[in-house]
Amino acid sequence: MILLGPPGAGKGTQAARLVARYNIPQLSTGDMLRAAMAAGTPVGLAAKELVESGKLVPDDVVVGIIRDRIEEKDAENGFILDGFPRTIAQADALGEMLAEKGVALDAVIELRVDQSKLVDRIMKRAEEAKAAGQPVRKDDDPEVFKDRLDAFNRDTAIVVPYYEKAGLLKVIDGMQSIDAVTQAIELELSALDE
Ligand code: AP5
Repeated sequence: MILLGPPGAGKGTQAARLVARYNIPQLSTGDMLRAAMAAGTPVGLAAKELVESGKLVPDDVVVGIIRDRIEEKDAENGFILDGFPRTIAQADALGEMLAEKGVALDAVIELRVDQSKLVDRIMKRAEEAKAAGQPVRKDDDPEVFKDRLDAFNRDTAIVVPYYEKAGLLKVIDGMQSIDAVTQAIELELSALDE
C-alpha cells in the first residue's frame, strides 16, 4: 500500500503504526535518503543538498532505491510505501516494478490535511526534537518547509487523481487525532478483505 499526503500529513506516524499491525515493513524514501546522507554514501552525498533545501531528488535515484528495497526478504509479504511515489514518473515506474513481480497495489491512502496546519505540526516536531536533545531535520526550517510544500503542490498532488482514476484511492481525514486516523485507515484496509 501507499501512504500519500503533503509534508507533515502524518505519513511516517501512521506507517509506523501499520508496520506493527500488519507485520510488513515501512519503506520511507525520506528515511532511506537521510540514512544514506548520514552514512555519506554516493547517493547520500548527491541527495544532501536537494533534501536539505526541500527539493525533490531525481526520479531515477528514488526509483533505484525502491527497486532494490522491495527485493529484500522482509518485503516479500507486502510493504507500506511512505513518501513514494512523489511524481507521475515514479508512479509509472512503481507500476512497472510491481507488474514485473506479479504484485498488485491493495490501496493508496491519502491523508488529507489543511495546508495551513502543516507548518504548525512541523514546527512542533522540530521543537520536540530540540527539547529531547535529538537532531532537528534541516528541512524542518520554516523557509525550507515552504519549498517542500511547493514541491508537493507542483509535482506530487497530481499523483492523487492518478490513483483515483485507477480506483485505488481511499481518502482519510488527516485532521483527526492520530488514533482516529489509524482507526480510519484500518477500517478502509479491513473492508478490502471482505
Ligand atoms: P520525507 O521524509 O518523505 O518528508 P515529507 O514527505 O516532507 O514528510 P514528513 O516526514 O515531514 O511528514 P509526514 O507526513 O511523514 O508526517 P509525520 O508523521 O512525520 O521527505 C524528505 C525529503 O526527501 C523530500 O523533501 C525530498 O527532498 C526527499 N524525498 C523523499 N522521497 C522522495 C521521492 N519519492 N522523490 C524525490 N525526493 C524524495 O508527522 C509530522 C508531525 O505531525 C509529527 O510531529 C507528528 O507527531 C505530528 N502528527 C502526525 N499526525 C498528526 C495528527 N493526526 N494530529 C496531530 N499531529 C500529528
